[in-house]
Amino acid sequence: MSRLQRKDEHLRQSLSMAPREADFADISFIHNCLPNLDFNEVKAETKIMGRTFRSPLFLNAVTGGTLRAKKVNEALAGVAAELELPMAVGSQMAALESRSALESFTVVRQNNPAGAIWANIGSYADAAMAKEAIEMVSADAIQIHLNVPQELFMKGGDRSFKGILERVASIVESVEVPVIAKEVGFGVAAEQAEQLLHAGVKALDIGGRGGTNFLYIESRSSGRRLNRPLLNWGLPTALSLLETAPVVKGRADLFAAGGVNTAMAAAKSLAIGACAVGMAGMPVYLLLKWGRKALVSKLRAIERDLQAIMLMVGASSIAELQQVPLVITGRSAEWMQRRGMDPDHYARRASLNGQV
Ligand SMILES: Cc1cc2nc3c(=O)[nH]c(=O)nc-3n(C[C@H](O)[C@H](O)[C@H](O)COP(=O)(O)O)c2cc1C
Repeated sequence: MSRLQRKDEHLRQSLSMAPREADFADISFIHNCLPNLDFNEVKAETKIMGRTFRSPLFLNAVTGGTLRAKKVNEALAGVAAELELPMAVGSQMAALESRSALESFTVVRQNNPAGAIWANIGSYADAAMAKEAIEMVSADAIQIHLNVPQELFMKGGDRSFKGILERVASIVESVEVPVIAKEVGFGVAAEQAEQLLHAGVKALDIGGRGGTNFLYIESRSSGRRLNRPLLNWGLPTALSLLETAPVVKGRADLFAAGGVNTAMAAAKSLAIGACAVGMAGMPVYLLLKWGRKALVSKLRAIERDLQAIMLMVGASSIAELQQVPLVITGRSAEWMQRRGMDPDHYARRASLNGQV
């Protein structure tokens, strides 16, 4: 299967996926029955790599390369422009190899001239490729995707990952825009977050387990069935956020992604320490099955519900949301303890309203 055929196959397979557990059920807010707030004053405004956005949502990398991908990217860019959300393009490798694929990426900048657009390359790319990808879409930042399990189970995928961190560091050194390291659905642990920060990335998108499952996609594409334990490989999104938030805090931006498709999951992600929430599988599903209008109204509904959740815990801003108590139980609490983290730190942190 060529790189371009694979892109359309990903779009097709992502439509038929059963959702996985992102483990947000282990994390609970505490209801505040006395919020001294007005709904209209609750703002989920956020700063992402130094730029202020009215919403913490962003459209994560999905596609590029083919005619179908061009149409998807064109529509997603329109949605991003309408809602003023950042958007990442899919892997630009195809366009670096063949100029015929260029338009499927440049259409994004054409349809959203003033918006925040992020370029996207794999961890096998070098600094020259990164620069070309950035230029192609006049990108405000560049994502480097980390997708080792996907490569291993993809027909013809990479087998050597030597020098992966050094390549990230060399891209950071060479490009003019901030670099985002991103997983694609298997999560990032504390140790690798530390290494990536040391390499100089400005943001970490932990892309955890719980949404799009590239092991499932690749196993369906290749016809090779994988058993359940392997299909469930990876750190669930909530756990990956709990692992990385203390490492990233104050040093870089933390992005939540990987099945973060509801206002509740978004609110919990932000409360743990993320400043932005990326979505890929859900937007593309809604767009292809129900159209652009359905996607816009879903994203607006998530924004509205997020505001409501913030009010119900007594937070008028994301900074305040990051101070309200969170009770972490079950497997996630046990995991944290085994890994030397204290779940009670979240349960007992004081809210700004002085309720605790
Ligand atoms: C159809 C599809 C294609 C994707 N292609 C890319 C890609 O080219 N580059 C990349 O970094 N991530 C890619 N992703 C991964 C997403 O950006 C995201 O990290 C992952 O899907 C987890 O988020 P989700 O659960 O909201 O889908 C793709 C996801 C989907 C659904």
